[in-house]
Amino acid sequence: MSDPLRLGIAGLGTVGVGVVRIIRQQAALLEARTGRKIAITAVSARSKDKDRGVPLSDYAWEDDPVALAERDDVDVFVELMGGDAGPAKDATEAALAAGKDVVTANKAMLAHHGQALAETAESAGRVIRYEAAVAGGIPVMKALTEGLAGNDITRVMGVMNGTCNYILTQMQATRQGYNALFAEADKLGYLEADPNLDVGGIDAGHKLALLSSVAFGTQVDFDSVELEGIQNITLEDIDAADDMGYRIKLLGVAQMTGRGLEQRMSPCLVPSTSPLGQLEGGTNMVVIEGDAVGQIVLRGAGAGEGPTASAVLSDIIDIARGLRLPTFGQPATTLKTARPAQAAIPAPYYIRMQLVDKPGALAKVAAVLGDAGVSIDRMRQYGHNDTSAPVLIVTHKTPRVALDEALQNMDASVVVGDPVAIRIETVD
Ligand code: NAP
Ligand code: HSE
Repeated sequence: MSDPLRLGIAGLGTVGVGVVRIIRQQAALLEARTGRKIAITAVSARSKDKDRGVPLSDYAWEDDPVALAERDDVDVFVELMGGDAGPAKDATEAALAAGKDVVTANKAMLAHHGQALAETAESAGRVIRYEAAVAGGIPVMKALTEGLAGNDITRVMGVMNGTCNYILTQMQATRQGYNALFAEADKLGYLEADPNLDVGGIDAGHKLALLSSVAFGTQVDFDSVELEGIQNITLEDIDAADDMGYRIKLLGVAQMTGRGLEQRMSPCLVPSTSPLGQLEGGTNMVVIEGDAVGQIVLRGAGAGEGPTASAVLSDIIDIARGLRLPTFGQPATTLKTARPAQAAIPAPYYIRMQLVDKPGALAKVAAVLGDAGVSIDRMRQYGHNDTSAPVLIVTHKTPRVALDEALQNMDASVVVGDPVAIRIETVD
């Protein structure tokens, strides 16, 4: 039997407590699978006195996560505090400098500093593992770095933020407003400490940037992800999309094109009957396409205590077993710099606009669309009030620039307020 693998866990919130719980409850199973004991030696959080629902008195306490990371009785520093900089990054750097491996669930830190941290770790012979950082309980990093390592990956796409999917699907199912559902997502432990990371699409953008790096052998480039959140999606959009056979999802797509690396995270319409369209609640789905394997679909809980802790444990188990892979699937110094490309592939779009209810208004809209080369596929108008009426248009495939040009040129004497335009994604 090998020596125990000794963990120092910084962060005892939703994920940290989940990890402590599994290690306590599954000690025998973990030992049988790795051939060694997995032992927690020390923990850290902000408040020592908080009741966290798990016994912690067996473990040494450190107020300072950096001190925890540097302890002699810690082999692996488990970073579960969050935040792209501050204590999480300081303690991760301290752990690597002190010769420890690192396991983290922190996509924000890796999306911003992943390349530098990976180079530091690899030059010191240490590993950084982060299965929990992308799509919670779904073993997607393992799938990409191991199971699909023999493929040239052509596209990665999916729903990667449980909070947004929960809010969007529950708005439709319960007719409740955004605020009530946001509070419920919080109760379920889905939300980031700064919820704008969730609803603004930033958290999902962090995940997409990490997936892109491993999929395409490029340095993480979060700044080039085209981002749009779900804050402007209304019940009206959800109903209208439903009426036309679609669901609204915060969808991420990354693909290598002749023009460079395209990465976008934005609300999209997908067919209601497609697997992505039927994804409910906090569930995530990642679709990976490779030249040899074809299409792989991974689906599962994207957030919450158990699923996220499950992913953290898979990294700890790999380290206990002696599996040591580079952070982004190949040595960090060999990753190429991605050339960012704007999403230019034409797609159909859903447009909702409020039109003044007077003769010729619709004709003016159709003329502006036509002048920009945007062709109408389907159109509906309903729910007139005294002076105006909502018009819903589905276009044929069109480049986004043509659509933007048309929307900018809309005649303010017939269009009330700003039109909403959402891409319709082709999903096979
Ligand atoms: P959380 O519930 O807010 O817990 C954060 C923990 O970190 C708390 O225990 C907090 O201490 C501690 N902490 C914060 N700042 C600290 C500091 N300066 N020094 C020491 N401890 C500090 O967060 P979480 O949901 O568990 O998320 C943790 C990480 O996992 C984040 O990177 C998040 O993005 C990622 N993640 C979360 C989920 C999820 O479903 N929740 C899923 C995937 C990935 P106190 O408790 O004393 O305040
Ligand atoms: N806030 C994230 C989500 C947690 O809702 O998906 C998992 O990363």
